[in-house]
Amino acid sequence: MSDFKHLLSLQELTQEQILGLLELAAKIKTSPADYGQTLAGKSVVTLFEKPSLRTRVTFDIGINRLGGHAVYLDQQNGAMGERESVKDFASNITRWADAIVARVFSHKTLLTLREHSSVPIINSLCDLYHPCQGLADFQTISEHYSDLSKVKLAYVGDGNNVTHSLMLGGAILGMEVAAICPLGSSPDAQVVQKAQALAKIHGGKIVVSDKIEDIKGYDVVYGDTWVSMGDDTPLQSVKDKFIAYQINQDLMQQCGINHVLHCQPAHRELEITSEVMDGPQSLIFDQAENRMHAQNAVLVSLLS
Ligand code: CP
Ligand code: NVA
Repeated sequence: MSDFKHLLSLQELTQEQILGLLELAAKIKTSPADYGQTLAGKSVVTLFEKPSLRTRVTFDIGINRLGGHAVYLDQQNGAMGERESVKDFASNITRWADAIVARVFSHKTLLTLREHSSVPIINSLCDLYHPCQGLADFQTISEHYSDLSKVKLAYVGDGNNVTHSLMLGGAILGMEVAAICPLGSSPDAQVVQKAQALAKIHGGKIVVSDKIEDIKGYDVVYGDTWVSMGDDTPLQSVKDKFIAYQINQDLMQQCGINHVLHCQPAHRELEITSEVMDGPQSLIFDQAENRMHAQNAVLVSLLS
């Protein structure tokens, strides 16, 4: 199924490849024993320039469940590029490992890693994209909606890496994806343009709006932090700007939303209330679980 060599952004995949990954992720979830030796004898370096709970743990445990071995590298030896160049980092690791998972500040670092690596590079979050998150999100939605192309997904809050992956992946899947963000926090214009072009090809729709009332009629609402990692702005200082975009019970009722997603970490009572996060419409912890299954589908596709 896999004829892709790396996963830096969902825009690099075809609709068939994304649907194939989602199908495989569902199989791995229901029949894990069938995949228990898929990565036997293989080692994956997971490299983190930023903090992580879900991504770090799901790759580590996920690789273990596929029979492989994960090597975690953080910044204890200094930031990547300081002790030795990113090029040399890649040129060394590629001689030992079978794949490199990397969470980095800049997308450019991933491009350099890819240029100097003979093994797959998997983006586990950068400034522009979070493709592993997007795959887990589409898997989670597909557990409740049999045809993803009929789903209307509204992302609410700060236009960021997660928004971009939802727009690009959703466009390829033929979904309607709205990014409802305050003025000055819209998603990147070039990514929006790319997503709109992909949506046109696949019969999807991309909407960008700053009006929270435009959320009416969407099936799924999605939240993320108002300040992403790498941005030092204190969260409380942006509260006034974003509070109208909070996902709370009133919003859910007024708009008739069915399901709620949030990539986490969540700031309860800021971008989402506990009432909604822990309520019956929340798929947030299924979504966190699916990080592991979706990533394992990527690893199986790239490495077996
Ligand atoms: N959603 C997500 O990527 O979580 P972590 O930052 O904890 O890995
Ligand atoms: N947009 C967030 C996602 C965290 C998983 C960030 O980049 O910090």
